[in-house]
Amino acid sequence: LADDSNLVIGGDRVRHGIARREFGATGVAVSEVGFGAWGIGGGYGGVDRTESLKALATAEELGCNFVDTAMVYGDSEQVLGQFLKGRRSKWFVATKYSGQSPGMTATIEKQLQALHTDAVDLYQLHWYPRGQDEHLLDELERLKQAGKARFIGISLSSAIDMRDALARPPIDAFQIPFSLLEPEPFLACLGMLTRNRKGIVIRSALHKGFLTGKYKSDAVFPDADDQRHKLTHARIAAIVNQVERFRFLEHDAGSMAGAAARYPLSFSPVSTVVLGTKTEQQARSNYGEVPGTLSSAAIERIRVLQLKLGLRGAAWRRWTTRIRLAMQGTA
Ligand SMILES: NC(=O)c1ccc[n+]([C@@H]2O[C@H](COP(=O)([O-])OP(=O)(O)OC[C@H]3O[C@@H](n4cnc5c(N)ncnc54)[C@H](OP(=O)(O)O)[C@@H]3O)[C@@H](O)[C@H]2O)c1
Repeated sequence: LADDSNLVIGGDRVRHGIARREFGATGVAVSEVGFGAWGIGGGYGGVDRTESLKALATAEELGCNFVDTAMVYGDSEQVLGQFLKGRRSKWFVATKYSGQSPGMTATIEKQLQALHTDAVDLYQLHWYPRGQDEHLLDELERLKQAGKARFIGISLSSAIDMRDALARPPIDAFQIPFSLLEPEPFLACLGMLTRNRKGIVIRSALHKGFLTGKYKSDAVFPDADDQRHKLTHARIAAIVNQVERFRFLEHDAGSMAGAAARYPLSFSPVSTVVLGTKTEQQARSNYGEVPGTLSSAAIERIRVLQLKLGLRGAAWRRWTTRIRLAMQGTA
């Protein structure tokens, strides 16, 4: 699985440290740390396009080959399209359908144009479709058959979503939130995810940047376009206080950001952890510092702390037990 070849960057011999992992049963290997492209579209406030392009180029130099975007991430697809000219084959490009009219087929055509490509590697539904939306799963499959997307996936938010999505065999991949501060629903579904070979894309591992440990409890986000702008002072202080409880991880991982990336990578069903990256400096940190995994002692200490902080709720446990029993046909 690991691809430990050496690259020469800027005249210096730099170890190409990003390991590759199998992307489910697709036969494709992706870098275990991927590029989250919401930020370069402005999701975390104003960005400079030159800087965004440098961030992407740096990620590529350091061995990243997976990028995740969406049409609703501002001009992220346009920036990415500009970057991908002449280097499309080096990247595994994932984007999403977020419900735009006049429908999925017309929307993906626009996205392919923006991305300067004939097909994306992964086309994902931005949510699990139920009721009137269910036909979207068939449309997704048709796009794959038509060659517009090599693989198809769904971005999920709950254990129920995961259970239902796993019952749809043609789906190649899932995107799931998972971090030190948000261990569920991923961990509640770990058994199911281990048994089924799907490409697993982990999002929000840095918890909107807070898990890098750089924010203090009095942090403010003045840019109205920054999704953190609406967080109350009390909420920010609560998040930062929780992050501080995980500081002990810095010792082993070298940095909080490194520990936050290593945490999901410590679980084998995970294919790639997409870290939101806006600048060249962030790219050097996110793709240059080899993540690896955390020790089992650290994972256990995290588990205990998550329980103490109420991040793994009793309600969740009851609910997932019900799901497990239902799957076993005993409830
Ligand atoms: N429903 C969905 O499908 C969904 C939802 C959310 C995200 N996603 C995907 O997941 C990706 C990752 O999530 P995300 O972008 O929301 O957030 P994230 O990865 O949790 O955090 C990203 C933010 O952290 C800060 N940061 C990143 N690397 C850093 C470093 N090395 N040092 C210091 N600060 C750093 C940057 O913001 P600042 O510098 O401004 O602090 C960056 O914008 C997205 O880009 C998107 O592709 C999908």
